[in-house]
Amino acid sequence: MSTYKFMTAEEAATYVNHGDNVGFSGFTPAGSPKEVPTAIAKRAEAFHAEGKEFKIGVYTGASTGDSLDGALARANAISFRTPYQSNKDLRSALNDERAPYFDMHLSSLAPHLRFGFMPRPTIAVLEACDVTKYGEIYLTSAVGIAPTVANLADKIIIELNHNHPEALRGFHDIFEPLDPPHRMPLTLMSPSDRMGVPYIKVDPSKIIGIVETWRDDEVGGFTPTDAVTDKIGKNVASFLANEIKTGRVPKDFLPIQSGVGNIANAVMASLGANEEIPSFEMYTEVIQDSVIDLLRSGKISFASGCSLTVTTPVLKEIYADIEFFRSKIVLRPQEMSNSPELARRLGLISINTALEADIFGNVNSTHVLGSKMMNGIGGSADFTRSAYISIFTSPSTAKNGKISAIVPMVSHVDQNEHSVNILITEHGVADLRGKSPVQRAEEIIENCVDPSYKQILHDYLKLSGPSHTPTNLYACFGMHTQFMDSGNMLDTKWDKYKTTI
Ligand code: COA
Repeated sequence: MSTYKFMTAEEAATYVNHGDNVGFSGFTPAGSPKEVPTAIAKRAEAFHAEGKEFKIGVYTGASTGDSLDGALARANAISFRTPYQSNKDLRSALNDERAPYFDMHLSSLAPHLRFGFMPRPTIAVLEACDVTKYGEIYLTSAVGIAPTVANLADKIIIELNHNHPEALRGFHDIFEPLDPPHRMPLTLMSPSDRMGVPYIKVDPSKIIGIVETWRDDEVGGFTPTDAVTDKIGKNVASFLANEIKTGRVPKDFLPIQSGVGNIANAVMASLGANEEIPSFEMYTEVIQDSVIDLLRSGKISFASGCSLTVTTPVLKEIYADIEFFRSKIVLRPQEMSNSPELARRLGLISINTALEADIFGNVNSTHVLGSKMMNGIGGSADFTRSAYISIFTSPSTAKNGKISAIVPMVSHVDQNEHSVNILITEHGVADLRGKSPVQRAEEIIENCVDPSYKQILHDYLKLSGPSHTPTNLYACFGMHTQFMDSGNMLDTKWDKYKTTI
């Protein structure tokens, strides 16, 4: 360690210049650097004040904290951003076209950088709990794309965060596959297997500086469960319990992948509470608060993820009891945690969240009214397409019932009808497996749609003549345009549209 130069965040930021592409560690606010990106944002503001350009390309695992995405967005310092975000200021910047954003599958980012599909990150900024003089970097609460950007970059800046204990050494399983045509199988046969080493190894001469910090991860709190999310969670749990009873899922169960956000957090809590679901393992990307409770209770026996996306009090509890968790958690690069090869081999049950779904089973998780980006597709498709069973959950309505989450046609497609097996709202479960589009529409309207919207959707189906997928191109966005006109999809009337019968 003494071989490296210690510096302030401001000094480290002087190595980053206009036009650079920077790769940051982290996956969600977990494990993201905090001091250096904020210093880069200040540097950008100083350049802008002098009338000079200063923008950088930003690569990181997924979303980050406010001191990275928020600070750089507010400083108007982002020339390009991928693959996922959830910061309100960055969201505004990319929806106002001030920050070009490429929404991509999280498993694909590291290989696409290696393949040269996007400009090479020349600088890596990595948060670490320890660094050895041999260039072994031990990460903190996430892995993300850190191994790849560390290898690709010419210069590495380390944020040594003392709020993450050195005892985290050993929680990570770092492995980077070779690229085709030399790629070998990822050899994991169960979520707790390992195939890498616990550190990223780089040439120590690439580490140009170490910035010490004592900052907590900026993971926001989760909304407490309410009657709707509680019912969604219970519907997921009883659906899966029934799958075990019918023998469609093995009685000792299969590993679970669970998505990001409040609904996913609530669903995991319900799975934990259901006595008919046996103890299970997770192979997932984010390990959220509810998973930690279930690891403690024994309901979850092991969790493999890319990040510990837990609130600060929960992270402190983990660190206070780190030896308990050592044999129960592993953190991997997203190329492994989100690997479609592994999702298919391990037989994952994937559970992700939709903003809207249509009556045929297409899912939109990203765009409000077709054009405004919420967060991004994240890893949802990495898992959905390859899962043993793919589930999407959503409250049946949004904005106090003025938006139906089930519409005639989604305003943007993230997952298509061929990949979505099960749709679950607070009203019930639509099992889409083996059903024609018309049968799927009936199943979804009957089981998942809010009662106030059922007739509207039944009536929509009658606007189209008999066909394989009855679609009325005049009316298919009629509920969306009604919301734009009157602020309430319940006002939708179909008689103004031509029928196609
Ligand atoms: N139209 C407009 N707004 C809608 C909507 C719709 N059809 N459906 C939901 N919303 C709004 C909600 O009202 C809420 O807004 P608010 O914050 O102003 O109240 C917001 O969208 C969703 O928040 P919440 O209900 O708390 O959901 P969440 O925290 O569970 O997040 C997603 C849901 C879909 C945004 C989130 O899961 C996501 O980003 N998914 C995509 C990535 C992914 O699946 N990753 C996991 C892979 S492992």
